[in-house]
Amino acid sequence: MTAEGSDFVVVANRLPVDLDTAPDGSRRWKRSPGGLVTALEPILRNNNGAWVGWPGVPDVEVEPFEDDGLELVPVPLSEREVADYYEGFSNATLWPLYHDVIVRPVYDRTWWEAYVEVNRRFAEATSTAAAQNATVWIQDYQLQLVPKMLRMLRPDLTIGFFLHIPFPPVELFMQMPWRTEIVEGLLGADLIGFHLPGGAQNFLYLSRRLAGQPTSRGNIGVRSKLGVVQVGFRTVRVGAFPISIDSGEMDEKSKRKSIRDRAREIRAELGDPKVIMLGVDRLDYTKGIDVRLGAFHELLLSEKVDPEDVVMIQVATPSRERVESYRHMRGEIESKVGRINGEFGRVGHPVVHYLHRPIPRDELIAYYVAADVMLVTPIRDGMNLVAKEYVACRSDLGGALVLSEFTGAAAELRQAYQCNPHDLDNVADAMMAAIEQDPEDGRRHMRAMRRQVLAHDVDRWARSFLAALDRTGEDTAPTQMV
Ligand code: ADP
Ligand code: G6P
Repeated sequence: MTAEGSDFVVVANRLPVDLDTAPDGSRRWKRSPGGLVTALEPILRNNNGAWVGWPGVPDVEVEPFEDDGLELVPVPLSEREVADYYEGFSNATLWPLYHDVIVRPVYDRTWWEAYVEVNRRFAEATSTAAAQNATVWIQDYQLQLVPKMLRMLRPDLTIGFFLHIPFPPVELFMQMPWRTEIVEGLLGADLIGFHLPGGAQNFLYLSRRLAGQPTSRGNIGVRSKLGVVQVGFRTVRVGAFPISIDSGEMDEKSKRKSIRDRAREIRAELGDPKVIMLGVDRLDYTKGIDVRLGAFHELLLSEKVDPEDVVMIQVATPSRERVESYRHMRGEIESKVGRINGEFGRVGHPVVHYLHRPIPRDELIAYYVAADVMLVTPIRDGMNLVAKEYVACRSDLGGALVLSEFTGAAAELRQAYQCNPHDLDNVADAMMAAIEQDPEDGRRHMRAMRRQVLAHDVDRWARSFLAALDRTGEDTAPTQMV
């Protein structure tokens, strides 16, 4: 960043690194969890941009600093704000509301006030970090008021917003006591991106109904046919841009000898079972970890699978551990793991191997290479990068993907063993089909999915969003408005 500021600024709740305190009290930066960081970090490092975000721990004031060509601008949050804005409004109100109300959202005025206050602080920090006429790209549900706040501070900026989680059906969104403020907050952007056309369409409808703005009516495409909202003299574009991963890098790494050796070693460590099934998630109730454990349990009970032949590994990154619904779900999952192992394991031979921690990237890739069946069974997920990572790592065309229909990824990975996570029999059937797949069919399916994932990588996602954002400055005649 120069004294005049950066020309390209990403704004997200978290910086791409979290400040971590070791047991001896020393502090170091470590990679933040989740798909958003996985997606954006490579792009920013290649663009000499700035990243505005929270350092991941309360009450630390850190000056902006440079990290490997990227300017990091920390936004401090107090202990109270972490409780009210992050754990409260973001993760106990918006997160469950936007994920189909899997748990009941809590609507609390104090949390809302903290959300407004923290969004204002992010807008102010961004206003300071951005150069004249810069492009600013705001990320995700924690910061939906920032587009409007930032536009009022800096009308010269080009502002994009991308929502990384699903945008809910209108009937659910209408629960939100501050629904009009949120829609108007988002309409401060020049371009608002969603993963799927359905989310974009819902938003257009709400812009008419809640903000009273005329909008286009035609269907929205994928990376094409943007919708339009006319906000006074400003034209806001709305589109679908499904996110992806650095598929080339994962493909390349998965072919390395060291990774393939490690994958063989993992198999041997597990006692060379016929089938390894794998789940990799943040420990979140949206991910349907309970669903896959339930389906596996049924398959064991009905003796359709033999515990001597099939093992399951579940790697779960700790997440939002102070939020009540997360604690509750952790208890349920861990008791289910205990129950399955109690009923079907032997000493030295559990059927479910459960790790409650993140694992290093290369180790994760070795797990993907080792896994015969990948289990991705969310109740609702905006995209799900894990599904795409698995596909990118299977250059050998081996493996099978069990994929919930309720993920964004299901729209692209049509050849997966798709299932309805609300129908346990259906999930168990999809697991069985994956376990028993004909190797030639498996190769055909994997080849088709790889073509999709390798051609549509995260770079293409970012380029298509940013190109559309760039074009918002052009004076194109809007489509028919009503
Ligand atoms: P979300 O963004 O909701 O966490 P995604 O599936 O879209 O879900 O992205 C999760 C990202 O975090 C992926 O890049 C995945 O590899 C990574 N990840 C998830 N769990 C682990 C884990 N236990 N260890 C290491 N990385 C993980
Ligand atoms: C999802 C969200 C991100 C979030 C990540 C990790 O990917 O879309 O915005 O950063 O989960 O969650 P956390 O609450 O730890 O930031």
